Amino acid sequence: MASESENQIQIPSPSPSLSQPQPLQDRVAIVTGSARGIGQAIALHLGSLGAKLVINHTSSKSTHEAELVASQINNSLSSSLNNNNNNTPRAITIRADVSDPTQLKSLFDKAEEAFNSPVHILVNSAGIIDSKYPTIANTSLEDFDNIFRVNARGAFLCCKEAANRIKRGGGGRIILLSSSLVGALKPGAAAYTASKAAVETMTKILAKELKGTRITANCVAPGPIATELFFTGKTEEQVKRVIEESPLNRLGETKDVAPLVGFLATDASEWVNGQVIRVNGGYV
Ligand SMILES: NC(=O)c1ccc[n+]([C@@H]2O[C@H](COP(=O)([O-])OP(=O)(O)OC[C@H]3O[C@@H](n4cnc5c(N)ncnc54)[C@H](OP(=O)(O)O)[C@@H]3O)[C@@H](O)[C@H]2O)c1
Repeated sequence: MASESENQIQIPSPSPSLSQPQPLQDRVAIVTGSARGIGQAIALHLGSLGAKLVINHTSSKSTHEAELVASQINNSLSSSLNNNNNNTPRAITIRADVSDPTQLKSLFDKAEEAFNSPVHILVNSAGIIDSKYPTIANTSLEDFDNIFRVNARGAFLCCKEAANRIKRGGGGRIILLSSSLVGALKPGAAAYTASKAAVETMTKILAKELKGTRITANCVAPGPIATELFFTGKTEEQVKRVIEESPLNRLGETKDVAPLVGFLATDASEWVNGQVIRVNGGYV
């Protein structure tokens, strides 16, 4: 398990230049599920590339963590260089459940209002797993429905809202988190894996449906990453087994995923569209 000091937020060091705009300068990005875990690292990374950020979470428990992420971005060097004496913060927090259409619509409304701009980038990192890791025979209908509600319905609503509202004509990006389990097909996570397979399918179709908008849609599919979602419900022995399966002999870290999402968010990635990109150290 990570120690407390290891869990402290590390903001990637920005390399801003006064003469050169940053790759995501002043673009508005919503990152769902960014109070902690992979979403948090993605939000901090996009912030270091110049984006204005909406830090989203769903539980009241993580309100403080979400505010901490926003203040890391607002207090960063890149932020002070980019803000040009503008008093609007570069990062705000919005609590919303991605599986609720009204809350998701309001997430976009508030983002547009706060930054007086359309949203350019949506990253959907919100997700849950059944930490009992049951076989299909032992999966309750309630758990199945809950996983599909957040992971598949949540992703669908994110895609739907983003497709209607993200800026057209260049720079529009939709990036959804899937999982390398869709390739590994391990026993004990069927509902979760199937929900992510649905996300991958929707993303590929969405990319085609967005023809003519210059909005791209892609999935990033990590392997095992050291976050709460990964550790919950696993014994030390089970964690050790996952590490042994990895060609690089370690778990992934959130910083192994964020740069890929950062690239997909920039103009340089425009030709990457409708793809599922696995980032897993060779796990599958
Ligand atoms: N960690 C891995 O090994 C791994 C591997 C492959 C794919 N992934 C995927 O990567 C994504 C991030 O996972 P993670 O490991 O970073 O998980 P995590 O550490 O558990 O963080 C999950 C985040 O999602 C938020 N969230 C959960 N349900 C939500 C909802 N209904 N609406 C809005 N936000 C919600 C949580 O909000 P609160 O803080 O308010 O609870 C939290 O901020 C997930 O989609 C996951 O399936 C993870």
